[in-house]
Amino acid sequence: MFTASKIAIATDLHLDKARPETVATFLGSLGGVQADIMLLAGDLSNRANYSEHLALLAREFGRPVILVRGNHDFFGGSMISADACHARAIDEAGDVMHLNGDQVVEIADGVGIIGHDGWYDGISGLGIATPNEIPGLMEITEYRNGNRDISFKIMLARSHESAEAIARGIVQAARKGITRIIVLTHVPPFVEATRYNGSVTSDELLPFFCNAPLGEVLLAFSRERPDVRIHILCGHTHRASRMVLGNLSVETLAGKSGAPRVDRVSTLEEIFQPVAAVSYA
Ligand SMILES: [Fe+2]
Repeated sequence: MFTASKIAIATDLHLDKARPETVATFLGSLGGVQADIMLLAGDLSNRANYSEHLALLAREFGRPVILVRGNHDFFGGSMISADACHARAIDEAGDVMHLNGDQVVEIADGVGIIGHDGWYDGISGLGIATPNEIPGLMEITEYRNGNRDISFKIMLARSHESAEAIARGIVQAARKGITRIIVLTHVPPFVEATRYNGSVTSDELLPFFCNAPLGEVLLAFSRERPDVRIHILCGHTHRASRMVLGNLSVETLAGKSGAPRVDRVSTLEEIFQPVAAVSYA
């Protein structure tokens, strides 16, 4: 176990979309971030620039980086070949760990981090009946199959994969006696965690904004183990929201394309602050 008491949290950096001088300024600021580790909730860059951006981020931060990938990290090729490309980049970047459900990273007594990339489910809101185009339709090879039905099945399969992986991780963590679990993933697992200005994301967008199968897994576990406190960190929507359901809380962080930044540095006490019965913000 390594100890971490201050945690830098970032998501949706989209370094491929920012101006080079903006990226340089952001990277240059990382050395001064007062944190022991960084958690990155996906969408660092695109496929073509992933290796370079991850290597620079890891080098400039200079402390462990724990990450999951977002859909945008896959843009520019097939998902399968992106897996190989990302794995190489993660290996070469140094002190970087990619969570795939099978690791429990213990950072303090009784506190652990688990996670998985996650994917939008294609079934929330209007599901396949949404008139909206699939995000990244022209960017991800598997979506360019000419059959919308198949593309939605791919989304749902990836969503279920993340739910199963996180279920494995959470059970492992509980077996180790961990009672405060941080779950890192890219896509919010509940519709209520996609709120913006008081209302949830539209039914048209929800198939691409929510990972409901993961939400079901998390909710089931949280009800079975009221003694375990779970905090989920995610991004993807670019809209900040916080949702609390008993011993389960979800924080959706608002990344901004073109303006990469570390969202915040938090202590464990701040992350696991006491929760109300049900609240949305
Ligand atoms: Fe995303």
